[in-house]
Amino acid sequence: MRVSVIGCGYLGAVHASAMAELGHEVIGIDVDERKIEALAAGQPPFFEPGLPEILTSATASGNLEFSTDIAAAASATVHFIAVGTPQAKDSASADLTYVDAALHGLLPHLKAGDLIVGKSTVPVGTAERLAAIVAEHGSGATLAWNPEFLREGFAVKDTLEPDRLVYGVADQTAADVLDEVYAQALSTGTPRIITDYATAELVKVAANAFLATKISFINAMAEISEVVGADVKELADAIGHDVRIGRKFLNAGVGFGGGCLPKDIRAFTARAEELGRGESVAFLKQVDAINLRRRQRVIDLAVDALDGSVNGKKIAVLGVTFKPESDDVRDSPALDVAVQLKGLGANVVATDPQGIENARRRHPQLEYVESTDDALRDAQVTVLVTEWAEYRNLDPARSGDLVASRSIIDGRNVLNPAEWRAAGWAFVGMGRR
Ligand code: UDX
Repeated sequence: MRVSVIGCGYLGAVHASAMAELGHEVIGIDVDERKIEALAAGQPPFFEPGLPEILTSATASGNLEFSTDIAAAASATVHFIAVGTPQAKDSASADLTYVDAALHGLLPHLKAGDLIVGKSTVPVGTAERLAAIVAEHGSGATLAWNPEFLREGFAVKDTLEPDRLVYGVADQTAADVLDEVYAQALSTGTPRIITDYATAELVKVAANAFLATKISFINAMAEISEVVGADVKELADAIGHDVRIGRKFLNAGVGFGGGCLPKDIRAFTARAEELGRGESVAFLKQVDAINLRRRQRVIDLAVDALDGSVNGKKIAVLGVTFKPESDDVRDSPALDVAVQLKGLGANVVATDPQGIENARRRHPQLEYVESTDDALRDAQVTVLVTEWAEYRNLDPARSGDLVASRSIIDGRNVLNPAEWRAAGWAFVGMGRR
């Protein structure tokens, strides 16, 4: 099939490459010239395992081309909208500027039988509004909403082998077109749900709201554990054995961040309020508040570890990305902790295997070092806030020889407290005994 992908950020670049990998002829379109140049040269403008390989093979085979000109979409019959929907600057709502711009840019290039497929995460009601614009334009094209559930770090796998496909459609023809696009995944038995626009839009935000709630639930249990001397990790293991609950997404720590969960729960709350149903998801404000409190908890622990003041003290911050296997620092709890400690006067030295460049662009006031050893050297307290394998596998004895003081805060609950204590470290976890 001939496919266009409008928006070549995280979602779009992966989607375009994956569609080409599946054998479709793909044109990726974005207004950012530097991004398009890099992608056309086979270089993803962000870190994502597996993406360089499929991008290079797709561009080399001629299946994947890139352009900054939306007119290039004219040759395609399926048009994916994969632009960002960030949080608005002045409210909790999603900013739909890019979605609207993509659709309006596409309109003059549409023809009868074309299918526009929304992949961006949008407030419920958006697809219906956009479908009306498409119908009014009179090209004979139609619209479907097909949310994306990819996780950063696993984006290629999640796109090629999704755990489910959701089609929000107005008619069966649109579903048939999507079946052709996703023929390979369907042939391996991937479940697919065909539904209306509103349900498809809600599926995405409901999934992210549920995941965020699960993380904040266990972090709330961490808060309680902290006052009663219980251990939240053992608690999570125990409740996770109940298959109705499950152990996944029950890792307490410094909380969730990234380009999706935080902004999606806020946008969902704002949309529910617009719909007069604010009370239905009012609990998401608590989910957000619990999450943000965990960042403060790490900061408080650092202050306590330094006898009441971090001012002028060297703090090693291990990790700046919102999770491992990503260079993304959007709404990163790790970077937030580093910035706030710096704001309190600490001499923060941050490190990360992939995120330094992005972090430095946003927060040039922090000192960044490439090597973990350099970060640890002479540190008076060490704070682990992103669970990269390199930090999970740190050797307490060797690390102890580098630091000024053997004091560590495990903001992700990934270290073995007994081992670190045995090596002479003052060890504090998140909700751990
Ligand atoms: C998320 C959804 O998982 C994905 O389906 C959706 O398409 C986009 O949003 P992503 O943002 O890549 O994906 O990250 P995810 O793996 O969900 O992690 C989100 C945050 O939660 C990270 O900061 C992570 O560290 C944190 N987290 C996750 C926890 O704090 N505890 C957990 O148990 C799990």
